[in-house]
Amino acid sequence: MLEHLTVVTHPLVQHKLTLMRDKETSTAGFRRLLREISLLLAYEVTRGLEMTTTEIETPLQKMQAPVLDGKKLALISILRAGNGLLDGVLELVPAARVGFVGLYRDPETLQPVQYYCKVPAELEDRLTILVDPMLATGNSSVAAVDLMKEKGAKNIRFLCLLAAPEGVARMREAHPDVPIVTAAVDECLNDHGYIVPGLGDAGDRMFGTK
Ligand code: URA
Repeated sequence: MLEHLTVVTHPLVQHKLTLMRDKETSTAGFRRLLREISLLLAYEVTRGLEMTTTEIETPLQKMQAPVLDGKKLALISILRAGNGLLDGVLELVPAARVGFVGLYRDPETLQPVQYYCKVPAELEDRLTILVDPMLATGNSSVAAVDLMKEKGAKNIRFLCLLAAPEGVARMREAHPDVPIVTAAVDECLNDHGYIVPGLGDAGDRMFGTK
């Protein structure tokens, strides 16, 4: 079982994160680093998956060997920045089922509004991993978890690259049953809801938009 918050302090993760934070890092470099770091984070967020054994035959003898048990896990990308993390995680777990959630912030109420949702069937029987690089205010993350629970998911984990203390607290309050895995928890949010020191707008940096 994962703790409510896991900060992945592995030196490779921290080194790559520093390169990603650097504003001089190009779009191509940022994307490559995100793919690499997401493989390492995927390793952590899939810790403790249920296992069973199957009989195989090595060149020497038969053995009961460990394999993943249960239904294929579900990876849910929170659009659009989630797609950057999704690619790397999928490389590590290629048989995973994939879903997408689109949320925008209503300019008047500032609350997240869903504009897209397509998720795999039978979420209740799958480990469901939501991916979004930035856990900032936590509003969209909480809304995305709400939605997954409405769709039946019972075993949910949240994977991000960077988190703000405000977002972690909001998730802990709304969804204490959802463990968060991240590479760092930064200082705070600024007045525009950006994580400080952060890395800027993750979507813009990975897609080269502004
Ligand atoms: N989303 C981003 O892309 N960056 C932040 O710092 C906060 C939210």
